[in-house]
Amino acid sequence: MSDFELVKTSTGAVSIRNKVVNEIMHNPVGPWREANDLYIEQSKLRVRLVEPVESDLVLFDVGLGAASNALAAIHACLALTESAQRRLHIVSFENNLELLRFTLENANAFDHLKGFEEALSILLVSHHWESPCGRVIWDLREGDFLEVLDQEKHVPELVFYDPYSPAVNQDMWTLASFKKLRAHCATPESIFGTTLYTYSVATPVRAALLLAGFFVGHGIATGLKNETTQFSTRLDAITDPLSKAWFGRWVRSKNQLPYDVSFVEADVYRDLICGHAQMTPWRSLSGELMKAAFPGRKWTENSSEQAEITEIL
Ligand SMILES: C[S@@+](CC[C@H](N)C(=O)[O-])C[C@H]1O[C@@H](n2cnc3c(N)ncnc32)[C@H](O)[C@@H]1O
Repeated sequence: MSDFELVKTSTGAVSIRNKVVNEIMHNPVGPWREANDLYIEQSKLRVRLVEPVESDLVLFDVGLGAASNALAAIHACLALTESAQRRLHIVSFENNLELLRFTLENANAFDHLKGFEEALSILLVSHHWESPCGRVIWDLREGDFLEVLDQEKHVPELVFYDPYSPAVNQDMWTLASFKKLRAHCATPESIFGTTLYTYSVATPVRAALLLAGFFVGHGIATGLKNETTQFSTRLDAITDPLSKAWFGRWVRSKNQLPYDVSFVEADVYRDLICGHAQMTPWRSLSGELMKAAFPGRKWTENSSEQAEITEIL
């Protein structure tokens, strides 16, 4: 019996539920809308594809799943008519191909799969597909993302980060996992750096991203999600950096720290977050806010300055 089933969400969209972890993918707007809003539009994929540069656009699709995000990128690329177009090179990561097999068996339920059934079958068998026009290359890396990343030779310009939620897939949302991902990103000095998008807005996730050395911003709303998260190796790639209001909420939050930071290390990591370069405008506030939030703690006025991040951990 399959671990997956087709469901209709409250908005009428057809999606897939993983019965084991009890999560509906792209709930409630459905896979096509979320893939396009959160990943394609927000990353300005089409604009990037017509930049006057020679290099391929390398896109990491983390959590291939039902291939909605990857296919949205392929549709966007193939619909472009500009002659000077960069090649799109998607590298998809997946540790359980059952969802893709289930999707393919139920291809009729999803309009965006029409015409791509053969591509998906080839990808499943050969782990590689190229569009007949040569404008899309699609590779599949099977296995645990955090392990296969060690062997990955390509460096992404964009990352669509779409594992299951932290509640059921926590190892993909830790400080350790984001440090590993950050170490594989393009340097900020490179032409585009690396910019990443995800649906989670959880405070421990954003704290982990800051501590891993990313710049972090409020991502666009989609469906019932008021916002999502964008993060990058470059501050200028973030359209809406985390706000003073976010910093204020973080200071008062009971979940300030990444999932894998232990209670005994808490003060060190809180200082590091206050010292993140992106928090500079609010740094003078942090002492007061921290004193108010942690009245029992000895807090020195300049402790956040001392903790400024000078290197990627
Ligand atoms: C929410 S689904 C992805 C949906 C997909 N992006 C789409 O557009 O249809 C999450 C996927 O991440 C995969 N995943 C979770 N942890 C992973 C890991 N450590 N390495 C690789 N894939 C992982 C799951 O097997 C699942 O297929």
